[in-house]
Amino acid sequence: ANEMLNIPNAFGHTVRYAMKANSHRSILQIFDRIGLHIDASSYYEVQRALAAGISPEKIMLTSQQVLSAETVKELVCKGVIYCSVSLNQLKICASVQTELKTPLSVRINPGLGSGHNNRTNTAGVSASFGIWHEYLPEVLAVAESYGLKIERVHTHVGSGSDWKVWQKAAALTLDIVRKMPDVKIVNLGGGYKIDRIDPSRSINLHEVFSVIKNDFEKFSKETGRSLYLEVEPGTYLSANSCMLLTKVNDIVNTGKNGYTFIKVDASMTELLRPMIYGAKHPIRLLGKENETRQDYVVVGCCCESGDIFTVKEGDPELIDTVKLPITETGDCIAIMGAGAYGISMSAKNYNSRPVCAEVMIRSDGSVIEISRRQKLEEIWEREVSLY
Ligand SMILES: Cc1ncc(COP(=O)(O)O)c(C=O)c1O
Repeated sequence: ANEMLNIPNAFGHTVRYAMKANSHRSILQIFDRIGLHIDASSYYEVQRALAAGISPEKIMLTSQQVLSAETVKELVCKGVIYCSVSLNQLKICASVQTELKTPLSVRINPGLGSGHNNRTNTAGVSASFGIWHEYLPEVLAVAESYGLKIERVHTHVGSGSDWKVWQKAAALTLDIVRKMPDVKIVNLGGGYKIDRIDPSRSINLHEVFSVIKNDFEKFSKETGRSLYLEVEPGTYLSANSCMLLTKVNDIVNTGKNGYTFIKVDASMTELLRPMIYGAKHPIRLLGKENETRQDYVVVGCCCESGDIFTVKEGDPELIDTVKLPITETGDCIAIMGAGAYGISMSAKNYNSRPVCAEVMIRSDGSVIEISRRQKLEEIWEREVSLY
């Protein structure tokens, strides 16, 4: 987070933590203390951030869900920033803000997307996020018809982006801002790649933002406008903060032409990224120093054939293996890099598995349970009994 707070920038910047990556109250509080603001993706996330003690002015909501005018009003009156991602949302928001005279924020799809696959790509023709850039005249017309100014433009082109693509998208964003004379703040979203397997392939923030800084300075010379920068990292701030600890339940194999499977007591109910993105997470066998290594497929304990932690990178349809020291039932395995889109995005309660406990190790080495394990009865307590 400190690295993000110190990225090169031309005219000041704010870091908004994309709380969808890991929305735990204690994490929101830590980031709040060191000066980060919040990017919320739903009304519920806004409520969660408020409940964690974050002040409303530090929260910006950019949501796929269209909220009613009453709900937008409730949020905006509190001080929450509302960023419209469609023309419909913009009309609702403008109708609310016209009384309050607060400036508008819009998310634009600049026409270029990036991400390691379609599921993490959030711009370009195949993404529904943001207002398609060709509708800019309509966007400006809505603002004008309500007597409002558009102060902030937001673009987020994808997660795990190739930073060259990301920089190109930033340049496209500036082209859009050129046509929007009242814009003062440019929010470039998130997508700062962390490679969990090979950290040398992770984004170099200093390099990337030096180029962006240059672009902002050039823009300023050309137009006389000094744009304030916002960024919304999620993964970068939380991915490597957490590991999923799990026990080996069983070991089975499918004969000499098959695989040896390690069955662990975690599953897609704690970490879904391998199963839906083909995401690679380093896997370590804890406490075993023996040198002999063997290829294993590590699978979760859900009754679901896709519940596999070792899949081919980018293709969850294909099985891969990991080399681990000879493993036995009862051994402990750590699945690393599970802090972003781990528990926050998992298939909670599938197979009626209670949500796991979460433990934080503080910088002084002390350990604190930050979430207790869900009680089994909590899974069905909302359900109505017929008999
Ligand atoms: C609008 C917005 N901002 C920020 C992020 C965070 O992305 P990442 O976790 O890749 O940094 C996302 C992720 O989807 C997003 O949709």
